[in-house]
Amino acid sequence: MTVDLNWAELGFDYMNLPYRYESHWQNGAWDAGQLVSGNTITISVASPALHYGQQAFEGLKAYRTKSGAIQLFRPDQNAKRLANSAARLLMPAVPEDQFIAAVQQVVRANQDYVPPYGTGATLYLRPLLIGIGDNIGVAPAKEYLFTIFAMPVGAYFKGGMVPTRFVVADHFDRAAHFGTGQSKVGGNYAASLQAGQQAHAQGYGDAIYLDPLEHRYIEEVGSANFFAITQDQKRFVTPSSPSILPSITKYSLLQLAHDRLGLAAQETRVPIDALSDFSEAGACGTAAVITPIASITNGTHTHTFNHGATGPITTQLYAELTGIQFGDRPAPAGWLVPVD
Ligand code: PLP
Ligand code: COI
Repeated sequence: MTVDLNWAELGFDYMNLPYRYESHWQNGAWDAGQLVSGNTITISVASPALHYGQQAFEGLKAYRTKSGAIQLFRPDQNAKRLANSAARLLMPAVPEDQFIAAVQQVVRANQDYVPPYGTGATLYLRPLLIGIGDNIGVAPAKEYLFTIFAMPVGAYFKGGMVPTRFVVADHFDRAAHFGTGQSKVGGNYAASLQAGQQAHAQGYGDAIYLDPLEHRYIEEVGSANFFAITQDQKRFVTPSSPSILPSITKYSLLQLAHDRLGLAAQETRVPIDALSDFSEAGACGTAAVITPIASITNGTHTHTFNHGATGPITTQLYAELTGIQFGDRPAPAGWLVPVD
């Protein structure tokens, strides 16, 4: 029985659900892991996660289909990315089968909170891996904690699929060229707080980051990747860069733009001074889904896409992506994992 919540009004806010998953790594191995209740953890004050940012996290969603079934979208990709983030910070990987089984357990245990089909809401899952234990030197931890919690969510950017204005971050980079931008680690988000706060204070949805070497090429849109459609409506482009997060949504859209919409789809450098090449632009990610970009302000200049309205290709991509996620359109092989 689904709980009674105002599903359509949900934003992206924390909610403490009955169950989460926890597993500990000690002496070279993960324990069996289990469901626990309660949203607090007790760790050493000297834990490397607290002092030196030795932690990584993920974000994925569970979707309720028309028939009432529940499914995950590409959780294997989240498992692989967490393993990559872990490797970058010298943390042990969580094996892919353990990761997926743990996500399934958490969804199943909290299934009354998986929003009903048709509300647009989903169950967001937050896997988190942290270095713990008594460890004050700058060195990797000797113990690790992996937990997954969940919460029902609606739109990340206000209104969801509503054209949103963004602003280029003024003198802030979120990650260095050879830094941790490719890894989903807390330090990147700490580095983004000031630019995000400034953007919000000025009435924008979020900050757009430029490449940290030359500050000429678009990197990311806050906590989402960037894509654009060329004026001839024939090409889908999205930035290639060593310092952006490899977005699972972005790689899914690259494939769908090509296979289903017949566009040429490529990762390439996207100069901030070439925005007039594009008729549409968008932000994409698990939380953001697809958020159309109404305009980008860079210093004193503002470029508006498609008169500030959602463009036709963005609309088609949104329908294709969310149609697959909610089980209304056929999915490429391996993209959906059921939660029975
Ligand atoms: N970029 C950043 C910085 C993010 O935090 C996210 C969210 O996960 C994304 C991009 C989008 O990635 P994905 O589509 O895998 O959610
Ligand atoms: C996600 O889309 O899962 C994200 O990580 C965004 C989050 C940082 C709010």
